[in-house]
Amino acid sequence: MADAGDSLKTLAEVVAETAPAELVADGFLTVVSAIADGAKHVSGLTRRAGLAGMLGDTGEVNVQGEIVQVLDAAGTDAFVTSLRDCGVVAALACEELEDAVFVSDAADHPYIVLFDPVDGSNNIDVAVTIGSIFAVYRRSDDSAVTETSLLRPGREQCAAVYFVYGSSTVMVVATEGRVDGFTLEPTSGEFLHSHDQIQIPSQCAAYSVNEGNQSKWFPGMQAAVADLRAEYGLRYVGSLVADFHRDLLKGGIFLYPGDVKSPGGKLRLGYEANPLCFVAEQAGGAGTTGTERILDVQPKLLHQRTPLIVGNADVVERVVAKLAE
Ligand code: AHG
Ligand code: MN
Ligand code: MN
Repeated sequence: MADAGDSLKTLAEVVAETAPAELVADGFLTVVSAIADGAKHVSGLTRRAGLAGMLGDTGEVNVQGEIVQVLDAAGTDAFVTSLRDCGVVAALACEELEDAVFVSDAADHPYIVLFDPVDGSNNIDVAVTIGSIFAVYRRSDDSAVTETSLLRPGREQCAAVYFVYGSSTVMVVATEGRVDGFTLEPTSGEFLHSHDQIQIPSQCAAYSVNEGNQSKWFPGMQAAVADLRAEYGLRYVGSLVADFHRDLLKGGIFLYPGDVKSPGGKLRLGYEANPLCFVAEQAGGAGTTGTERILDVQPKLLHQRTPLIVGNADVVERVVAKLAE
């Protein structure tokens, strides 16, 4: 039987044909390829984690106050190297690094990338789907790049990219008005165009939240989730990017609210909420803090956390209305 991959376009072909012309002219394909190269390396390590010494933790604690897993560190190295060396990235910021990495102020380095190298780290040792998440910005001018250059609202992203290392390795690329999916063909190492112009289905299929935190939520959120519980099934992987990818393809709403212990929420604005809400909005969905569109939040800190509610726009709006009651 002919493999579907035989007739599918490659990542490079689709990006060259469909990404905004000004991005393609500015080396956007180079950034996307650098991200894809890093992800192929992480995918390979993930698939063989127990054989490649990629299980367990490093004993280090990162800027988030979280124990760094071996694969977190390997993923950080892989993506920092590929992005730093690709020749068009001026600066990058990574969940696992306290400070940004400044590469070059040259005008031919127009891109800035913020990323979560391995999302869902608690699932590495139990072989449950994890992923990587990237927010891509173009420098707003040719002035020297400083940390402030990385503190931009998510609406200014020129692209967002994420990967799920699951039953297959899938790469999702969003630019203004378009979201496409690519599946890694392991023998050729090519990401092939498996999901054309993704739009979130009109019908929400599930809600996704850590119900174990229910007693800590503020009353409005307890009431809002009670409504969701009465209407939808619950799906929760514990890897944001896996839960998000399911909701994007099948319809759904993901929530990680602030609570009495962490009113600002757990997830990070710069390299989790912003890129995924950029993808969601290009696919017809919505993303909010509960009181503000995620993409409008003006970041003050590189590793700033935020409450996150993202998925089907009508259901997100219902939750926001409930919270406002
Ligand atoms: P990371 O592994 O990059 O730190 O992200 C983990 C996040 C996110 O992937 C997931 O949705 C959330 O942590 C799960 O948190 P709980 O275990 O508290 O539900
Ligand atoms: Mn994460
Ligand atoms: Mn992470």
